[in-house]
Amino acid sequence: MSVPAANVPAGAFAAAVAAGHDPRPVEVMAAALTAEATAAGRHLDNIAACVLGGLTLVRSTDPIDVVRVPLARPLWVALVTPAVRLETRTARSVLAPTLDRGAWVQQMANTAALLHGLASGDVWRFREAVRDLPVAELVTHPEGATRLYARPALSSWAGIERLLFKHEGENPTGSFKDRGMVVGITQAVRVGARAVACASTGNTSSSLAAYAAQVGRPAIVFLPAGKVATGKVAQTLAYGARGLAVRGDFDAALRLATECCQRLGIYLLNSVNPFRIEGQKTIVWEMLQDLCWDAPDWIAVPAGNLGNTSAFGKALREAHEGGWIARRPRLLAVQAKGANPFYRSFADSFRSRHRVRPETVATAIRIGDPVSYDRARIAIETTRGVVAEVSDDEILEAKARIDGAGLGCEPASAASLAGARKLRAEGIIAPGERVVCVLTGNLLKDPDAILARSPERALVEVDAEPAAVEAAIAPWLR
Ligand SMILES: Cc1ncc(COP(=O)(O)O)c(C=O)c1O
Repeated sequence: MSVPAANVPAGAFAAAVAAGHDPRPVEVMAAALTAEATAAGRHLDNIAACVLGGLTLVRSTDPIDVVRVPLARPLWVALVTPAVRLETRTARSVLAPTLDRGAWVQQMANTAALLHGLASGDVWRFREAVRDLPVAELVTHPEGATRLYARPALSSWAGIERLLFKHEGENPTGSFKDRGMVVGITQAVRVGARAVACASTGNTSSSLAAYAAQVGRPAIVFLPAGKVATGKVAQTLAYGARGLAVRGDFDAALRLATECCQRLGIYLLNSVNPFRIEGQKTIVWEMLQDLCWDAPDWIAVPAGNLGNTSAFGKALREAHEGGWIARRPRLLAVQAKGANPFYRSFADSFRSRHRVRPETVATAIRIGDPVSYDRARIAIETTRGVVAEVSDDEILEAKARIDGAGLGCEPASAASLAGARKLRAEGIIAPGERVVCVLTGNLLKDPDAILARSPERALVEVDAEPAAVEAAIAPWLR
């Protein structure tokens, strides 16, 4: 974009905000077009790209007809230079003999601000389809903009050639929960909540604690006693939340949190809260955008309380109905064998809803009575999805592979790969099909799971002598 073209929408936007109006992109574009027409002609092609970002096609100027073309993130900014060579002296002759320093600094700053707005990604990039609120009301860390990875070693281990990982552990508190929490906390502030609370297996509480700290609200978390990974407890407390260790499992903690929140007028931010689900839809949309809206065949996700499974189903429905994707990928929700109520229901064709007493090393999905059962069932049925179960050994083996490939994740996250590998072995995932596994949480969340599994890999203590080092590492170099 040229600098003057960038200034026009920037000015229109600034003027609208100064007048207390939160403008929509289309409104800014219309105002900018009027201004541009007065100053330099109807250069809608410049203006539309400045306001809408990415790649924008202008099909006509009267009436306005602008098509925003979905774009892969690496292509956020395209610089186009004319294939014309000019002597510097000749080029300078078209410029004013002097250019005021203040003017060009301001123009550069405007351009930089616009480019930043276009290039940065967070949950609110999809604001209109998440929660269409005025900009001034949005809380953001920011979160999202997590990446997709290919790892040939994992592809060959799983037998899936076209395998990608979307690493949600790259969110600010190390799990996908931030995407829903930022929308939930925005709502909590809007309704004037005096305090926020959740029951959690550790990641929701970490996320809640961080956002509550950001907006200055007290956070109270209900954790199943002795069943939350150390990293998550420490993180939750570090952000300043106050915690209750409930004698019982997650399901008991959630029932208790729900009842206490109702009694005490505290805002509950578990995934029963619909705003959480709205934010989590962006995991799928961002993934699809990064694949240039060429949907994969399968999306695999670990499944516990089923908030994510529900959110993914809704995101895929909306993307399909909106014409963003030509077909819906199939969802693969993967549960731990010891915490598999949803798998049991799937196995009996959803004739009955099951509840189990949960037990698994993957503490994040140690849930026996998932609260989003109904919505998740719709997600599976409308995507021709599959629910799988994997043993703790399969989860830990997949985790060791993911860690060993340099990606790293917490145990529950590895269920997605373990499940995809299982379905490939069973022939349900066909050869050549493209699969995206969602890694839901960061490796550092659960250090105990790593140290307990690989005692032979523990640090070897040595004297501070080269000879001692040599003796210790000799076997590793063979
Ligand atoms: C790391 C991780 N993966 C997966 C899940 C399961 O997600 P959901 O409860 O939405 O099914 C959780 C939930 O806490 C989690 O923390």
